[in-house]
Amino acid sequence: MTGSIIEKINNLKKKKNAVILAHNYQPGEIQDIADFTGDSLELSRKAASTSADVIVFCGVLFMAETASILSPQKTVLLPDKNAGCPMADMITAAQLEELKQKYPDSLVVCYVNSPAEVKAISDYCCTSSNAVDVVNSLDAEKKIIFVPDKNLGQVVKQRTGRDMVLWPGYCPTHIFATADDVKKIQAAHPAAILLAHPECPEPVRDCADELLSTGQMLKYVRTSDKKEFIIATEIGIIHTLKKQNPDKTFYPASEKFICPNMKKITLEKVLFSLEDNKYIVKVPDDIAQKARKALDRMIAVLPKG
Ligand code: 13P
Ligand code: SF4
Repeated sequence: MTGSIIEKINNLKKKKNAVILAHNYQPGEIQDIADFTGDSLELSRKAASTSADVIVFCGVLFMAETASILSPQKTVLLPDKNAGCPMADMITAAQLEELKQKYPDSLVVCYVNSPAEVKAISDYCCTSSNAVDVVNSLDAEKKIIFVPDKNLGQVVKQRTGRDMVLWPGYCPTHIFATADDVKKIQAAHPAAILLAHPECPEPVRDCADELLSTGQMLKYVRTSDKKEFIIATEIGIIHTLKKQNPDKTFYPASEKFICPNMKKITLEKVLFSLEDNKYIVKVPDDIAQKARKALDRMIAVLPKG
């Protein structure tokens, strides 16, 4: 059954000149059929550069919106129209507008996990892999408004020493692992390296050996001579970690580390999406045009390391 679904997906992909992009948190079987997997920055770059006519985005809405903004001439499909990101929805354009009025001389940096309308009124976009580099590239005299993730914002503020106003958004998945959970796993596996996503709250971040985006975690593990790793981010990434590193062992920081929205995408929905061109994500031209400036600036800043 699964075999025939995959065959149908592959046939339709060829017929429609489609490409399947999947985030590192996607279910294993989706990552396995994807043409390209990656973190938010890697997927944005791919969406901007692909020659395909159709992009099937296996991820959440803000990622498909980003692809639509960067490649407006392409058809961008999100296989489940309800796959959103609750953190992205914690800020609206009206709320950001109010904040900008309060700090009129500031620059706005918005995490890519945000609605298109928020990107449209931001100066810069960033992802977890280049947020520090984006902020470091800005005029040192300027105050920076950072939305919507307070956790990534705190990391950037600590690492750059910049004057920053942080919006109080957060990821409801990355609060599942507590510092107690993490310390217990560390005690049980004292040789393991703890890799945490910057979206984790501070007490968990403080236990970490490294704070990395999902793409950076994959690279770190591939090139490390260590054998055991505790992973403090969504467990979907462990599928690819194991596949790429069969000789290494991975412990999730918590079994509850699951993003329910990322898990809404299934093979059947990918097939339906290609069969019926659904669900089309198209950011209106006026918003896309403004948001593209912030995204182009994000793509231009290469993460270090
Ligand atoms: P990455 O860019 O590190 O893949 O993170 C995306 C995300 O949504 C984290 O929750
Ligand atoms: Fe959004 Fe958190 Fe899911 Fe990432 S893991 S898509 S930030 S809800």
